[in-house]
Amino acid sequence: MFKKLPGDEAQRLVSTTPDTAVVFRPAVVTTPAILTILILTGRLVAGCVRLVWRHPIASAAVALPGVIWTVYGWPYGLGVVALLVAVPLGWGLVDRASFLRLAGWRLLAFWRLVWVYRRHWQPVMIVSGLGRHLSGRDYLPRLLGVACTSWADQVTVKLLTGQATSDWAERTEQLAHGFGAASCRVTVARSGRLLLTFPRRDPLAAPLPALPIPVEASVGPVEIGRCEDGTPWRLKVHGTHVLVAGATGAGKGSVIWSTIRGLLPAARAGLAEIWALDPKLMELSFGRGLFGDRYAATPEGCVALLEAAVKVMQERAARFAGIQRTHTPTTEDPFVLVVVDEVAFLTAYQPDKGLRVRTIAALATLTTQGRAVGVGVLAALQDPRKDVLTIRNLFPDKIALRLDESEQVDMVLGDGARDRGALADLISPRPERGAGIAYVRLETSPDPIRVRAAYVCDTDIQAMAAAHAADTLPLPGVA
Ligand SMILES: Nc1ncnc2c1ncn2[C@@H]1O[C@H](COP(=O)(O)OP(=O)(O)OP(=O)(O)O)[C@@H](O)[C@H]1O
Ligand SMILES: [Mg+2]
Repeated sequence: MFKKLPGDEAQRLVSTTPDTAVVFRPAVVTTPAILTILILTGRLVAGCVRLVWRHPIASAAVALPGVIWTVYGWPYGLGVVALLVAVPLGWGLVDRASFLRLAGWRLLAFWRLVWVYRRHWQPVMIVSGLGRHLSGRDYLPRLLGVACTSWADQVTVKLLTGQATSDWAERTEQLAHGFGAASCRVTVARSGRLLLTFPRRDPLAAPLPALPIPVEASVGPVEIGRCEDGTPWRLKVHGTHVLVAGATGAGKGSVIWSTIRGLLPAARAGLAEIWALDPKLMELSFGRGLFGDRYAATPEGCVALLEAAVKVMQERAARFAGIQRTHTPTTEDPFVLVVVDEVAFLTAYQPDKGLRVRTIAALATLTTQGRAVGVGVLAALQDPRKDVLTIRNLFPDKIALRLDESEQVDMVLGDGARDRGALADLISPRPERGAGIAYVRLETSPDPIRVRAAYVCDTDIQAMAAAHAADTLPLPGVA
């Protein structure tokens, strides 16, 4: 790709003996001026044709007033300009949604393409090292197009032959700064093509209040917050195990409580049971009444509860063997969700070795064999290092809330997650801006998605517990 061009050899020759009789002289061919003019004119015409071909509506909108002005005079030209401004403006005022969908985002995308991306493309590519400037020629990845959504620009790029996704993933910071965005995420669109996502604003900046308790009793993916693109964040808990990692104050409680809130109707219908382990005594104790006798806070109580869950699991496995492979929740065999807050208190920081070993063994058994028989684990911890939780990899689904160090991101979400834009270590430590914000990887895609959990405050928890006790779920007025 970057092969030598004629003249390159001569440019690099350096004579170490200036008084030598041998003189290297690069071969210079003088191009006739007419040829240069013809080439430049050809390029200009090709550029105009390409512009009209790619953006016919925008080109017509610019050309039409000019033509009318020339043919019929300036008042008519001005009239057409006024019409071109008034029609979209009126449409936008009358029906904003359809205007944005059919025209608004396209107009913005065209503007951002011309004003931001095309204007800065060459310097950003060269300086970041994604393109090369060799002997007067630029070898740049091609900017194929820009699409706008309500919160981000999506830029499609054709890679240079031989480039890898990782070349781009390593330079997300340069790209974000270069194009004036807060961050950049890299996704493979198809072989040789990437989709770069540059957020224009943060749709998750404002905290989300607790979501309404669902009316339907379901253990299916539970809606616990919002994704960055505005769609609901649904967390799968039945048929998997989930690990929530986040520094202190990152909002682990909001993930746990939103999940419990979403499962309440199923719990009330007898299709789900929530077992709570609260070794720190500061989280699940707020809604103790919701768990009945399936609540433990002491290390001994927690181990006993985990071992009881293992027993339920083994009993079901013995009954289901050879009859069914997957679990469907029923009142006889409800889905059991074992919620463990601050799991490291029971595994790494537990001074009693016997209890520690029993906890790890029970957790490992549940996470390796529980999902087919309807026993799931939702565990939260602050420090995702292997020596804190040796069985980290037994959790198929992981959530990375705000983390202290950049290396911890890949520990939670898997290799390359941070390079692909999961900047969990850069989430704001201010609770109103960053608590509950997380990155997740869905089963269907290797690309991390940014989400925010709804905040279930203490009053909400107490209302949930009171309604549960009085058997009045879902809460009146919120479902
Ligand atoms: N989803 C959220 N949206 C907005 N604010 C939140 C959210 N979740 C939590 N907060 C705020 O952040 C504070 C800390 O949250 P939380 O107790 O859930 O953190 P944590 O990760 O469990 O911390 P710790 O490890 O110390 O227990 C809460 O008191 C609340 O003010
Ligand atoms: Mg907590």
